[in-house]
Amino acid sequence: MAAPLTYRRVARLRDQDSMDESRTLTNSELYQSKFDPKTYLDNFYQFSDNRRFLTFVLCELSQTFSSGKYKGKRLIEVGTGPTIHTLISACEHFEEIVVSDYTDSNRRELEKWIRAEEGCFNWDPHIQFVCDLEGRRTPAVVKETLRQRIKHVLKCDVNLENPFQPVTVEPADCIISSLCLEAACKDREAYRRSLGAMVGLLRPGGVLVIIGDLNETFYTVGDQRFSSLNLSQDFIEKTLCELGLSVQHLILQQAEDREANLKCDYEASFYLVAHKNCDRS
Ligand SMILES: C[S@@+](CC[C@H](N)C(=O)[O-])C[C@H]1O[C@@H](n2cnc3c(N)ncnc32)[C@H](O)[C@@H]1O
Repeated sequence: MAAPLTYRRVARLRDQDSMDESRTLTNSELYQSKFDPKTYLDNFYQFSDNRRFLTFVLCELSQTFSSGKYKGKRLIEVGTGPTIHTLISACEHFEEIVVSDYTDSNRRELEKWIRAEEGCFNWDPHIQFVCDLEGRRTPAVVKETLRQRIKHVLKCDVNLENPFQPVTVEPADCIISSLCLEAACKDREAYRRSLGAMVGLLRPGGVLVIIGDLNETFYTVGDQRFSSLNLSQDFIEKTLCELGLSVQHLILQQAEDREANLKCDYEASFYLVAHKNCDRS
């Protein structure tokens, strides 16, 4: 006769069930069904808990955009997730901002913030930090500008040649993508293709800003584990060059205490700015 199931065994079987279920899903299906925007924001975007990474990224974005050197009609963010921090410094310099993500829940979370709906994530500390850094605009003005300039929240799949299919978006002056391709791409060839598709959305002479992680194999959102494509700095620089971009700036922030980190195993975060060569279409 089978032994009675103890609480621990039941819990283990449930974990096993959920792992088996996760294994049968494609990566995109896994994001659509298991990526919880609220947990993600709580785990990685509370300003007080993740100050080191957030100040690194916000300071770099501010250095890139606050001078107004990069400006134009359209900025596209690819794989925005449920976040808006990447757009705080840039928003006043572009007339139209397009944000995008694969999952319905992430796009809903973005729309909630854009419409200032009750229960939306509080980005005020991030906006305040950038305003203090730049010393020009007030948080209320930045929030209003950003909310007004986000004109489209699009479904996007970076595995497609046109990530916004069936929608066609006019070439952008600037593209930003943060922590998306290493999450979405299963191998380096797929990364190269997706980056190529992203670069195809950029006008010649336009600027590409990528934030990512090096040598990461996984990250977790609550109890759900997601795989990450292991990237090296060499590979990224070489791929950008092959795609007709010239890297203007690339900086790393080493991870602290990698061994003790149970949420993810990245070795360093990177921030890069690259220009699309003018002879590329
Ligand atoms: C680690 S999160 C990054 C989110 C946000 N950009 C950030 O910086 O925190 C990875 C994002 O990639 C998105 N994603 C996964 N597969 C995708 C795909 N095939 N096309 C576009 N986005 C995808 C996920 O929905 C998720 O929002």
